[in-house]
Amino acid sequence: MMVEKMMNIAVFASGNGSNAENLIKYFNTNPESRIRVALVVTNRASAGVVERASRLGVPVAHIARDRFADADHVLDQLDRYDIEAIVLAGFLLMIPDYLLHRYPDRIINIHPSLLPRHGGKGMYGANVHRAVVESGDTETGITIHLVNEVYDSGRILFQTSVPVLPIDTPADVESKIHALESLHFPRVVAETLL
Ligand code: GAR
Repeated sequence: MMVEKMMNIAVFASGNGSNAENLIKYFNTNPESRIRVALVVTNRASAGVVERASRLGVPVAHIARDRFADADHVLDQLDRYDIEAIVLAGFLLMIPDYLLHRYPDRIINIHPSLLPRHGGKGMYGANVHRAVVESGDTETGITIHLVNEVYDSGRILFQTSVPVLPIDTPADVESKIHALESLHFPRVVAETLL
């Protein structure tokens, strides 16, 4: 009998971790899945994602911002879990070149707007939703894309939009975006990596 090899991925997250949790549940609780979230990497030891991953039995590596400069250290952590791809789920640091070289077209990011609108350095989470409301945009959405050496500019894999109403607050926009992320992100990751 042919046994299909499992692909181990790492999820990098800096914050609350709702997307990380969704990815872990989607991949790790489905016996048919050929992808497994084998490691969560965070630059913030106090981030909500740490508690969420631990509760779901996924090991967490805390790598502080300065330690990301140490390629040997970071690659050693990833190799320990045989990581073949990386998914950024609310990860706020720039991905260093050595990771781009090690994982070509194997690093995926989700951004909470319709790139190229409201992308770039400093544009994350609530900042993005505020910018959408302040600009009077009538729609927003999510972008799932490959990561390259420039913030939010790698090849787009998937986008979908949602209306923004004149009465919507940034918090309203955020909940619409989280619903889209939860619906689409794991499936697009699977389709891209398999
Ligand atoms: C998500 O909305 C994600 O799209 C966004 O951060 C949020 C993380 O939420 N990412 C960016 O803004 C990247 N520039 P979570 O911690 O609950 O998954």
